[in-house]
Amino acid sequence: MRKGTRQDRSARRVEFGDWQTPVELCKEVLGLLKRDCPAPDTIIEPTCGEGAFLLSAAETFPGVPIFGYEINELYLEKTRGLIPGQNVNVKHADFFEVCWEREISNKDGHILVIGNPPWVTISDIGSLGLENMPEKMNFKHLSGIDALTGKSNFDISEWMILRLLSALTKRNFTIALLVKTIVARKILEFSSKNNIYIHGRIYGIDTKKYFEASVDGCLLIISNINYTKFNSSKDWICYKDLYSNIQTQKIGMINGRIASDITSAIETNYLEDTCELEWRSGIKHDCSKIMELTLHQNGLINGFEKNINIENDYIFPLLKGSDIANDRKPGKRFVIVTQKMIGEPTVFIKKNAPNTWKYLNDNINFFINRKSAIYKNQPNFSIFGVGGYSFLPYKIAICGLYKKIFFVFIEPYRGKPVMVDDTCYFLGFNEKNHAHTVCKALNSNEAKNFFESRIFWDSKRPINKNILQSISISKLIDRLGYDMPYIFNKPKQSCLPFGI
Ligand SMILES: C[S@@+](CC[C@H](N)C(=O)[O-])C[C@H]1O[C@@H](n2cnc3c(N)ncnc32)[C@H](O)[C@@H]1O
Repeated sequence: MRKGTRQDRSARRVEFGDWQTPVELCKEVLGLLKRDCPAPDTIIEPTCGEGAFLLSAAETFPGVPIFGYEINELYLEKTRGLIPGQNVNVKHADFFEVCWEREISNKDGHILVIGNPPWVTISDIGSLGLENMPEKMNFKHLSGIDALTGKSNFDISEWMILRLLSALTKRNFTIALLVKTIVARKILEFSSKNNIYIHGRIYGIDTKKYFEASVDGCLLIISNINYTKFNSSKDWICYKDLYSNIQTQKIGMINGRIASDITSAIETNYLEDTCELEWRSGIKHDCSKIMELTLHQNGLINGFEKNINIENDYIFPLLKGSDIANDRKPGKRFVIVTQKMIGEPTVFIKKNAPNTWKYLNDNINFFINRKSAIYKNQPNFSIFGVGGYSFLPYKIAICGLYKKIFFVFIEPYRGKPVMVDDTCYFLGFNEKNHAHTVCKALNSNEAKNFFESRIFWDSKRPINKNILQSISISKLIDRLGYDMPYIFNKPKQSCLPFGI
C-alpha cells in the first residue's frame, strides 16, 4: 500500500476527493438503475467511502453480491458496522494498485459498477505536493508542451473509469458513477477515438444541494449491453436530472470532435473544414497592474492608480475580454507591448524609450514573480501571444470566456492597431473590407448554428481555438453568397501579409 501524505485534514480531503455521497442521492441513483437497467449479477463500488452506495445497493438488489474497496481504513470500519449480511464484502485497497482484471475475473455475470470516485485533478493533487494518483500519469500520451500549457491535466475519476473500462472489456457491464460533467464528456471522446463501443447517458445532478459544490456534476451511465431503454446509437442523451424525462442535449462525436448538439452538428457539417485563416490568442503578460494602463482625467494610470508618464512608442490601445463581450470601443484601456514577436530582445526599449525602460525596471519584481513557466529563460518583460499578426490594423475578435457568440469588428484607434487580451481570439486583416465581410459572415445565423452545436457552454473556456479553427470561412461566405475576399482565392492563405 502506498502511503498517502497526511498534511492536514483539508489537504487530505482534496487529495482523496473525499466528499461522501448523501444516502438520499445514492437511493435515487439505485432506484433509477433498478428501473432502467438489466438486473446485475455482481455489484462493485471501487471507492466506497462510508458505504452509502453499498447500503442503497444492498437494499435495492437484495441477494446480489456486492464488493466495496476503499483506501481510508476508518471509513471501512464504519462501513462494516453499517452493512450487515454476507453479500457485502469490503476491502482495504488503493484503487491504483488493485489488479482490476483479477478482481473481476472471479465475479459473475453482468457487473454493475456504482459510486462516486474522487472529484480531483492531477494538478490539484500535484500543487499540494500530494500523491494519490496513478503512477503512469501520461495515459493520453501528451507531449511536453501540452504538459506546460496544462493540457496534460486530467481528473482522477477519468483515469479510474478508463481503467475500469479496460478491465471490463470482455464482460457485460454497466458503470454508473457520479462524476463532473466534463469527465463524462471526456469518456465519450476517449471511447469514440479508441473504438470502445459503449452506450451512454448523462443525468444532471444538483451538486450545490448534495455536495455544496459549484462544479457541474452528473450521473454517468455507460454500458456495453444493448438494452431497449438505452439509446442504442453512438450518441449520448443528457437528461436534466435523475427523475424527469426531460432531455437537455444529445451529445456525440463528429469528425473526431465532440458536439453538444449532435443533430445540429450534422446539419451544419457542410461548414466544417480547417479554417483558412489562423485564429490567434490575444496578448498574455500576467502583469496587469504594471502593463495595463487606464486613461483618467490626468492621463494614464497603472493598476496601482499611479500616474505613468512614458513614451507613446510601446503603448497600444487594449480591449479586454469583457470589452469585447460587451462591444465596448477602444480608448479607455492601453497596454505596454514590449516585443513584436515572442523571444525578441527587450533591451532596445532602453534606447528607443528610456522612460518606458525605467518604468519597467522600477517594477521588475512584478515580472520576476510571474509564476508561469513560459517566462523562464526569456528576456526581461517578455510577453506572449504576440507576433506580426498582433499589429495588423483590422481585427475580428471574440472572448472565449463569455457565453455568447458575437464577433466584434475592430478598427485602429488613433492610428494604432488595437490589442486584445489572452481571453480573446482574433483574426487580423490588412484590408478593412475583408475584415468586414468575414465579421458579417461569422455573425450570420449559419455560423451561429455551427458554433452552438459544438460549444459546451458550461466549460471554463466555451469558445476555444479548436472550435474556431474548425469552420471554413470560405465555405461560409460562399453559402451566404457574399463577395469572396481575394485572400480566400489562394489555397491555405494566412491572414498575414508576407514578411510579417
Ligand atoms: C467522493 S468520495 C465518495 C465516497 C463514496 N463512494 C460515496 O459515494 O459516498 C471518494 C472516496 O474515494 C476514496 N478514495 C480516494 N482515493 C482512493 C484510492 N486511491 N483508492 C481507493 N479509494 C480512494 C476516498 O477515501 C473517498 O472515500
